[in-house]
Amino acid sequence: MSPFRLTRTLPEDATGAALRADVREGLSARPRTLPPKWFYDAHGSELFERITELPEYYPTRAEREILLTRSGEIAAASGARTLVELGSGSSEKTRHLLDALTGLRAYVPVDVSESALTRAGEALVAERPGLEVHALIADFTARLVLPETPGPRLVAFLGGTIGNLLPAERAGFLASVRALLAPGDALLLGTDLVKDEAALVRAYDDAAGVTAAFNKNVLTVIDRELGADFDPSAFDHVALWDAEHEWIEMRLRSREAQTVKIPALNLAVEFEAGEELRTEVSAKFRKEGVRAELSAAGLEMTRWWTDAEGRFALSLSVAR
Ligand code: SAH
Ligand code: AVI
Repeated sequence: MSPFRLTRTLPEDATGAALRADVREGLSARPRTLPPKWFYDAHGSELFERITELPEYYPTRAEREILLTRSGEIAAASGARTLVELGSGSSEKTRHLLDALTGLRAYVPVDVSESALTRAGEALVAERPGLEVHALIADFTARLVLPETPGPRLVAFLGGTIGNLLPAERAGFLASVRALLAPGDALLLGTDLVKDEAALVRAYDDAAGVTAAFNKNVLTVIDRELGADFDPSAFDHVALWDAEHEWIEMRLRSREAQTVKIPALNLAVEFEAGEELRTEVSAKFRKEGVRAELSAAGLEMTRWWTDAEGRFALSLSVAR
């Protein structure tokens, strides 16, 4: 079996320090916000996998359909010997790319979720002898230092996770991806597309309540890591479409007036009844908008594929 290497690119307490800074800043601001990367402890990663199987949550199925039909074209266009995947999670859909990239030598999944990386990495090395899997526990919005592996590289960012970044964060992120690309390398980007509001809201407010549990899990993470006393049942899950920004917003709405203590920050946060905390944006895109954002970061979109129903897109870009 080929080796599975897991590298932590952050100093030991960097995650804790970042969580403390994000929670202090986000909960002191008005309106209150939290960055979505804190959803993904082991339980949150499992809940996300359950979301991908829900009848209402179409993005995973739509993107898988594109990968199934287009991985051959993507592989021919990139000729990659290293596949780097940002926010790789379970690496489930990635298998179609791994199958098609016949000259592939190394797979570098990058994620903040150690549990997801370990599970996916161990399964992949068992299934694919000869493939070097070098997983990185890292924040993809920070400067990434990739392992020395053979080029050309294909950098994949699937699932529509780019939509979880705010517009200014996306610009910085795409510029840092551009800086990773040498001549001959490419970016494969998954973007969820603007569509009927009802279908969008359903995807983020499913009947079984899995997305609500995923949303509230961020409170459990803060309770466990910072000794806080959030009661998740004292908040309601909210998913709404913001037509101006063309994004879905997930929020947690306080059912009653309450004070939450966060001892690790020496902070008490007072929520009014009905007050909302924004936990995620999930932006939806149009082709020309994606092209323009890529172009502003020095990237040229060379291919664009959608699923048969036009719900989701994959694009391939190269450095200009
Ligand atoms: N790519 C997979 C998983 C998407 S879920 C798919 O398409 O199904 C989003 C993934 O990104 C999660 O695994 C989460 O842990 C990871 N993630 C979120 N924010 C991150 C960040 N700032 N840096 C690194 N990984 C992040
Ligand atoms: C990971 N990301 C693309 C998901 C999304 O659709 O924005 C996260 C998610 N949030 C609620 N459901 C799924």
